[in-house]
Amino acid sequence: MTKDPSPALSAAACAGSNIAFVKYWGVRKEPPDAGQPLNPSISMTLREAVTTTRVTFRPGGPPERDALILNERPGPPEALVRVTRVLDEVRRRAGLRAPAEVVSANNFPTSTGVASSASGFAALALAAAAAAGLPCAPQDLVDLAHTGSGSACRSLYGGYVLWDASSGREAGATSVRQIVAEDYWPLVDLVAVVSRRAKKVPSTEGHLLAWSSPFLEARLSQARTAARIVEKAILDRDFETLCRAMEAETLSMHAVMMTSQPALLYWLPETVAVMGKVRSLREQGGIPCAFTIDAGPNVHVIALPEAAPEVRRELEAVPGVEEVLFCTTGGGPRLLEAGGPYE
Ligand code: DP6
Repeated sequence: MTKDPSPALSAAACAGSNIAFVKYWGVRKEPPDAGQPLNPSISMTLREAVTTTRVTFRPGGPPERDALILNERPGPPEALVRVTRVLDEVRRRAGLRAPAEVVSANNFPTSTGVASSASGFAALALAAAAAAGLPCAPQDLVDLAHTGSGSACRSLYGGYVLWDASSGREAGATSVRQIVAEDYWPLVDLVAVVSRRAKKVPSTEGHLLAWSSPFLEARLSQARTAARIVEKAILDRDFETLCRAMEAETLSMHAVMMTSQPALLYWLPETVAVMGKVRSLREQGGIPCAFTIDAGPNVHVIALPEAAPEVRRELEAVPGVEEVLFCTTGGGPRLLEAGGPYE
């Protein structure tokens, strides 16, 4: 029996998903900024929605090429393509050639409107960099995570996070920073699930279609202003201002989606019913809550923690709401000392 000349390099990490209060929608197309966002975005990292990922580089194999196991099954080919893109960059930085086995698991159901690509690629970036012996501070990982998914670079920090899109940065570099940590202002995200169908048009395609909307310019200027207002509202713990800015901002993103060619309409009748319920809870009932909606029909309802039980009850009573998931403000990714998914 021959002995493997080099030992396997392995590490495991976990990262929380995030929900954006100011949404990233639309990417630049021309180098050197191709793939960079058109507008700044701000998100809250989620404590309860976590991906755990182990990366093992095996010099000499097996496997002979990168392999992905996702939630105990072989991962879809399109996910493996993105994973390999991240691993290629890790190999380039580390001077490695070995293929890797990636074993990843989400602790939350997919297609419920909680972004598994955000937590997934943040965990992958950290685990892969650690396995390869590369620096692992969030700033070292933002470009790596972004290579997998834009929103993933916000999941490299806990609490409230700004992904900047202003010029003056190094060309093509991703610029992300924490606004405040999770304990500064704990909020709750109640996800009203109205459909579990996977979205027909993935975000990656939508980011390019944004250019075809006649409303894009107006939205970009609105989103830049919203980012300033939302950052200040977070620093001031001003929930009322946050509510107003966040709802206006999500509606402007969906206006761009709906006026793209082809038009992207992610909402269902139940989506609108939940939006109406949230508005009436806040405006008539004085209950501190507001909605935000990603590229899908499910509605994230952001609330002050003391209002969460009542908001949850009210959302569960809306016809068509299948389930309400509960998340709070979470911390940044962590390396796991030992073990990982399925170990
Ligand atoms: C509507 O990060 O999923 O959720 O960079 O192509 O992976 P890719 O897109 P993705 O886009 C997220 C879009 C959004 C808004 C947001 O999270 O900011």
